[in-house]
Amino acid sequence: VATSSPQSEPLYRQIAARLREDIAAGRRVGGDRLPTIRALASELGVNRDTVALAYEALATEGLIESTVGRGTFVRSAAAAEAGGPALDPTIAPTVQRLQDFERARPRYAGVDAAPLHALVPDPSLYPVDEFRRTLNRVLADEGAELLRYGGPQGHAGLRETLAAHLRETGAQVTADTIALTQGATEGIALALRLFAEPGDAVAVEEPTYHNVLGTLIALRLQPVAIPMRDGAPDLGVLERALDRPDVKLFYTMPTFHNPLGTSTPLEHRRELLALAARAGKPIVEDAYEMDLRYAGKPVPPLAALDRTGLVVQLFSFSKSLFPGARVGSIHARGRLVDALLALKQATDLGGALAFQAALARFVADGGYDRHLTRLRKVLLGRRDALLDALARELPQARWTEPQGGHQIWVELPGGVDTRDLLPEAARAGVLFAPGSQFHHDGRPSSGLRLSIAAADEASIRRGVAALARAVREHGASGRRAPRGASVHV
Ligand SMILES: Cc1ncc(COP(=O)(O)O)c(C=O)c1O
Repeated sequence: VATSSPQSEPLYRQIAARLREDIAAGRRVGGDRLPTIRALASELGVNRDTVALAYEALATEGLIESTVGRGTFVRSAAAAEAGGPALDPTIAPTVQRLQDFERARPRYAGVDAAPLHALVPDPSLYPVDEFRRTLNRVLADEGAELLRYGGPQGHAGLRETLAAHLRETGAQVTADTIALTQGATEGIALALRLFAEPGDAVAVEEPTYHNVLGTLIALRLQPVAIPMRDGAPDLGVLERALDRPDVKLFYTMPTFHNPLGTSTPLEHRRELLALAARAGKPIVEDAYEMDLRYAGKPVPPLAALDRTGLVVQLFSFSKSLFPGARVGSIHARGRLVDALLALKQATDLGGALAFQAALARFVADGGYDRHLTRLRKVLLGRRDALLDALARELPQARWTEPQGGHQIWVELPGGVDTRDLLPEAARAGVLFAPGSQFHHDGRPSSGLRLSIAAADEASIRRGVAALARAVREHGASGRRAPRGASVHV
């Protein structure tokens, strides 16, 4: 290996150093594609794992990045990074851990394949014109009032509207017990901070929503994994976890779980509440997709069954309307409300009134219900297309059958790590979210999440056929993608 590093350096570091020099000197510039791991390994006469380690090191430094199925590229800001800035302030170790966590996520940008990985609702379904007219009307009617600071609780009209909407499920909620948030995401962080301090632990389902794991890292909270069994958290394990003094709360998605797509039955919800009451520990119920039921009978949310005041419920318009308004809500009971408002005030002084007011009017005028009726029909068609395609193309797999929401969980046989399958799937024409990203420790999973949010029925069918091809080829070759190569940076 021609390199200026001392020969005592491990081989992978010599390779990384050489590439770093190339980037610093401008011999490789932003957007340049690096050789595949296999090609560089054979050119240098080294093991593929050695090259994979070198790429992983450079990716950790932020110099290169990989995109599923497309390859590994020099990042555009890389030259400056490789040369090193004049001053280099220390980034807090917590943030570095968060960056490491984020880098372990697959990069999907620019890949031309069926988007069965994305939990972002299809923009072609957004009621843009109707919402634009509503936004114009509220600005015309309320003018500068909507362009002031709105206060930590948010627009009173939208709180009234949302309280009425949530009361339809049986929850005890009024405009006074709700605070509007920047999506459910802000609600998650507020709820975690309401009950837990850095160093404390939080019980989360496993698998769980990926971004919650990131939020736990950012808040220096420890996840305690509660395994999902038959689509519901294992209450025996949860009971033991909540008995631990350091475990301060349980974060759960009882309805249309992400990533599983499952909902828990009424009896399970009652038992969960009873055990939380015995432990005296709060439950954060993420009801982010509660309006997306397209089949089966609704089950009351935990907030509706709760008699103790231990449930804090999150709501969002992101999946049922569009995510860009960044409007969601958190509601709690008793003195928790004031505590939440203090936190919200300290965090951001409150959200954008104009969007909140427009959403209030949009709901009141029936626009939201009309949109939901259309959307549920579309989602039911897409879910059926997905279930049908799975039955035809992947009969050897097992999957969940959601009654609402966007996601379906597929378990592949044969102990495959679905992270390894992703590059082949991307080349075959489909993207998915590998199960490992929903594990607190990132360990391998033979499961994967498919989403019907962004793909139409034709694209879903093509995507599942491509997935089946990738599974066959993967099984036939018995190949494992080198870790850190084309998926993990
Ligand atoms: C379980 C869960 N909660 C919350 C969110 C975030 O939603 P919001 O856009 O409302 O912040 C998501 C988004 O994917 C999610 O899957």
